[in-house]
Amino acid sequence: MTAPASDDQPATTEGLTASPTTLEAAFGIDIGGSGIKGAIVDTRTGELKTPRVRIPTPQESSPENVAEIVVELLHRAGWTGPVGATFPAVIKNGVARSAANVDPSWIGTDVDAVFSKATGADFIVLNDADAAGLAEVRFGAAKDVAGVVIMLTFGTGIGSALFLDGDLVPNTELGHLELQGHDAESRAAASVKDKQKLTYKQWAKRVQAYMSHVEALFSPDLFLVGGGVSKDADRWVPLLDLKTPIRPAQLLNNAGIVGAAMAAAERRGE
Ligand code: BGC
Repeated sequence: MTAPASDDQPATTEGLTASPTTLEAAFGIDIGGSGIKGAIVDTRTGELKTPRVRIPTPQESSPENVAEIVVELLHRAGWTGPVGATFPAVIKNGVARSAANVDPSWIGTDVDAVFSKATGADFIVLNDADAAGLAEVRFGAAKDVAGVVIMLTFGTGIGSALFLDGDLVPNTELGHLELQGHDAESRAAASVKDKQKLTYKQWAKRVQAYMSHVEALFSPDLFLVGGGVSKDADRWVPLLDLKTPIRPAQLLNNAGIVGAAMAAAERRGE
């Protein structure tokens, strides 16, 4: 097992219950390319109730290796209640259906089943951008916003989450729309900005072309933009010229954890 990173702290579950009737808390896990992070989330406020624990993603990020880390995160927190986890792929009924930026061995894997079996916990797995969007819609930049809200996350790839009156339409994968003859994320993801050493001004032109295409297709009431670049939103969002209002995501590093926990809590509450 890999050593924990510096924000690793002892977890405490004091004063919180995961009772199916009160749904006060759930554990959220954010599975990313470089780190797997988890914490207990207060599902009434969206706040983390324990410090975020981060374990580096194994080099060979096969389902078995990632499941081992998931077990470790729950073990350290002493958590046995419902768990939600994000995954950067299409997740249909718990099964990964794509692997644009992850190990291809995930395609066809029943991620829900692998993690439930490894941990014995009640698990729900959802797409990473869907989770981040859910956190923003419940507690962040799109709280109480009616109508069509589209969250776009700019990172290694481009993730998307579509909401109608706060309800998620899962697995939209708008990062793979065709843009000027290319897979959109291969032109406008934040990783491309880094790789090609583009300035924010140069990169914003690509984002402009991409987001006007999405706008023309969906006529949203609000765009949310997330991913690491959302912390520099003032450097590129004002350069965009769209009819739809745009707000940067608010939950930043915690969005995946919070959204995953909310998905687990809301499924329990159904
Ligand atoms: C994947 C999506 C994912 C996004 C952000 C894309 O390449 O296809 O499923 O949400 O990257 O990680």
